[in-house]
Amino acid sequence: MHWPPCREGDAIGNLASPALSLGTLLADYDIEAIVETGVGHGGSMKHALSLGRPLVYFGCDCDPEAIRICKEMVPNAILSQTDSVSFLRNLLAEPQPFAMPALWFLDAHFGAHEDAWPLLAELDLIAACKPNVDRDVIVVDDIRCIADEANPRYWPGELGAPYVRSEHAWAEYTAPFIKTHTVHVRLEDEGYLLLLPRITGAERGPQ
Ligand SMILES: C[S@@+](CC[C@H](N)C(=O)[O-])C[C@H]1O[C@@H](n2cnc3c(N)ncnc32)[C@H](O)[C@@H]1O
Repeated sequence: MHWPPCREGDAIGNLASPALSLGTLLADYDIEAIVETGVGHGGSMKHALSLGRPLVYFGCDCDPEAIRICKEMVPNAILSQTDSVSFLRNLLAEPQPFAMPALWFLDAHFGAHEDAWPLLAELDLIAACKPNVDRDVIVVDDIRCIADEANPRYWPGELGAPYVRSEHAWAEYTAPFIKTHTVHVRLEDEGYLLLLPRITGAERGPQ
């Protein structure tokens, strides 16, 4: 089961979307790294790295062709050909979990791997294992799939099976971050969930 193919450089449905203002997010939250699950053909990666900010870029994709394309395009990105949950477990493993101030872009859905909708597992892992997660920004793509009336971007009838996901309530996706982040929804494109740190710049202190 696959999404329609991702077109490299698409201005919709990725980090290049005007709905996200990525450059502002990176500057406002002093972000030093981006972690992307499901890098596809590198549209988001290319946009993020074109903004002129020094960034370490980590990513994964279960599709070997996607990894090949991205490695060719951005040789210094740190890329793994694996499913998103294994990738995050590895990145966040003790004794030295990944700790840089990060923006997480969760876009790995409906791949070849049997776990077609790993979003809640990804969010739980990041919230539980990332040091200083209260400073990080989390962006989730494709939230139009989450079938729950509490989700402002769920428009009944827009999508058919198998893209409509009703195994978890909307509140379950935001719960791991509710104490540390504020919840925002962007209705544009395929819909984004944006989790922004409650902690202010002054509380974060000098970088
Ligand atoms: C929409 S495309 C990615 C677009 C890319 N994130 C961008 O913004 O330019 C989704 C990608 O996720 C990958 N994918 C889907 N499920 C996955 C999983 N469970 N683990 C890793 N990659 C996955 C697919 O192979 C596909 O390349």
